[in-house]
Amino acid sequence: MIKVLFVCLGNICRSPMAEFVFKQMVAERGLSEQFYIDSAATERFNEMCHAGIHHGTRDKLKAMQIPFEEHYSRQIRPRDYVYFDYIIAMDDSNIDDILEIVGPDTENKIHRLLDFTGHPRNIRDPWYTGDFDESYDDISEGCQAFLEHLLKENSDGKRG
Ligand code: 4NP
Repeated sequence: MIKVLFVCLGNICRSPMAEFVFKQMVAERGLSEQFYIDSAATERFNEMCHAGIHHGTRDKLKAMQIPFEEHYSRQIRPRDYVYFDYIIAMDDSNIDDILEIVGPDTENKIHRLLDFTGHPRNIRDPWYTGDFDESYDDISEGCQAFLEHLLKENSDGKRG
């Protein structure tokens, strides 16, 4: 079982989009049983408001015919670092915030999603840009590259 936690600032726009895009990619390859996939926030505000997925993310997932369930924002906790194998951030500031919460990345679990691509960069926050199409394109590119990385790592015999 490979456990993956996608993380962004609010856990209502980018990380739930990544969660459901990645779940769909894994399902299309018949690998759902081999993964546990979730998402979380670095800040606590949306958890306190019991905020669900932003309508921009919902609309884009629907338009792309990617299934999703209800998801409520929750803040990442130190125990998530122990439980998950991969903690995948959307941008540099997420990584700084994750490290403040979970402590040093002693097991090299924390990565930026687009660092798995040939064009490493941040995923801009659609909460501020309003551009959920751009988020989707970046997230799809990153999830594809991340999955290929995992499959290669697995076939090299590094993981179970
Ligand atoms: P996300 O976007 O990190 O992609 O979920 C945000 C959502 C909410 C807020 C900031 C960013 N907020 O300030 O509530």
